[in-house]
Amino acid sequence: MSVPRHVLLRNQEIPDIDQFDVYMAHGGYDALKKALAEYEPEALVDLVKRSGLRGRGGAGFPTGVKWGFLPKDGRPRYLVVNSDEAEPGTFKDRELIEHNPHQLIEGMIIASYAIGAREAYVYVRGEFLRGAEQLRRAVREAYAHGFLGERILGSDFSLDIHVYRGAGAYICGEESALLESLEGKRGNPRLKPPFPAVAGLYGLPTIVNNVETICNVPPIVMYGAEWYTSMGTEKSPGIKIMSVSGKVRRPGNYEVPLATPLRTLLEEYAGGMLPGYQIKAVIPGGSSVPLLTADQLDTPLDYESMMAAGTMLGSGGCIVLDDQTCIVKAAARLVKFYREESCGKCTPCREGTYWMTDVLERIEAGLGEADDLTVLLDIADNISGKSFCPLGDAALGFMVSAVKHFREEFEAHIREHRCPMGAKAYDTVN
Ligand code: NAI
Ligand code: SF4
Repeated sequence: MSVPRHVLLRNQEIPDIDQFDVYMAHGGYDALKKALAEYEPEALVDLVKRSGLRGRGGAGFPTGVKWGFLPKDGRPRYLVVNSDEAEPGTFKDRELIEHNPHQLIEGMIIASYAIGAREAYVYVRGEFLRGAEQLRRAVREAYAHGFLGERILGSDFSLDIHVYRGAGAYICGEESALLESLEGKRGNPRLKPPFPAVAGLYGLPTIVNNVETICNVPPIVMYGAEWYTSMGTEKSPGIKIMSVSGKVRRPGNYEVPLATPLRTLLEEYAGGMLPGYQIKAVIPGGSSVPLLTADQLDTPLDYESMMAAGTMLGSGGCIVLDDQTCIVKAAARLVKFYREESCGKCTPCREGTYWMTDVLERIEAGLGEADDLTVLLDIADNISGKSFCPLGDAALGFMVSAVKHFREEFEAHIREHRCPMGAKAYDTVN
């Protein structure tokens, strides 16, 4: 069986794949038919385990293992797809739902069959109006053609899918805050454990998976676990969509086998830097992760290699910082983002992101003081590992690595009372 060059991003070579007829003409819902005809639910869970598929939202947790955590106690369970993509630099799920919504719906039906869910939800980021409309249309079409509803394709399996729009809060991408929001409450994170697989939506067992993760399920059913593990590494098999932004010639989403070197992504897929720009640093996995320096570009894009290089593959949001970027300004902007998005539930994150923003904006404005870097790192230390949910640590990833690798640039701002990059130094503090 020939495998298409673009697997999840088929829309990039098949125009109008978002249309039901076009999706069907290119093998649409064949994986669902195969799953219902050839697999018992447990065998599907086993298939996904054998494929080694890992969560593509950022944490990289093994998907089949997560599915296997559901208690076998006969209680109803839910599938919830996290489409609240809000990590700066990450825009892959948006392309997947806007340009190929049936792929996600098909993956959701197969995943629900595997885990025994009769109700499934897609939680769509509030700003993704087009994506939510595309999904709602696709769901209506799937019902109309017997892929959703009672006794799907004549089987004993029935499923309803609900598309729910969030209200545009970054914290609702954290799975337990998402579940609170889905229940109609304020999106505050819950204490974990218990994990959602044990006590999730309405207190019932719930699997929360990212959009890209679920989109991988139909091709795994079609082409097999061996096909999937033939790409990438033993611990990081398969394909990953990387979102590339910054001063490259061709910013966009690229589907690459895991372990592809970062340099290949940037130079061959994204076309290299625009004339006049050099790479200063790269944030490889969305704004929550530490940066890589220009001499680390040969690092393979897989979970273990990124960890060994001191960062994370995360959500695959690859932000290229060029040699004209002021690293202090970048750190100030990103920490301010987390300050704005902090839910305020716990003190280290609520107060710490506020103080860090203050100090960074002071340094950026040329008003920094000699011990500001010590203060900054001390605040970071008081947030790290002491916050209620991952947002606190996420606020530190880039900033701490920026101070580590570009300390001289921070010190020059303080010493010279201006930005050595020539950026506006005195008018940026609100
Ligand atoms: P996590 O490592 O705590 O959990 C990952 C998943 O595995 C969760 O679904 C969790 O419920 C499950 N899990 C872990 N241990 C389990 C156990 N013992 N039993 C049952 N289930 C278990 O990571 P988390 O907090 O879900 O995600 C953090 C990541 O999210 C970060 O690494 C960051 O890269 C990413 N992120 C992505 C964003 C985006 O827009 N895509 C936004 C913000 C963060
Ligand atoms: Fe809220 Fe931040 Fe605490 Fe998470 S770490 S619970 S976002 S205040």
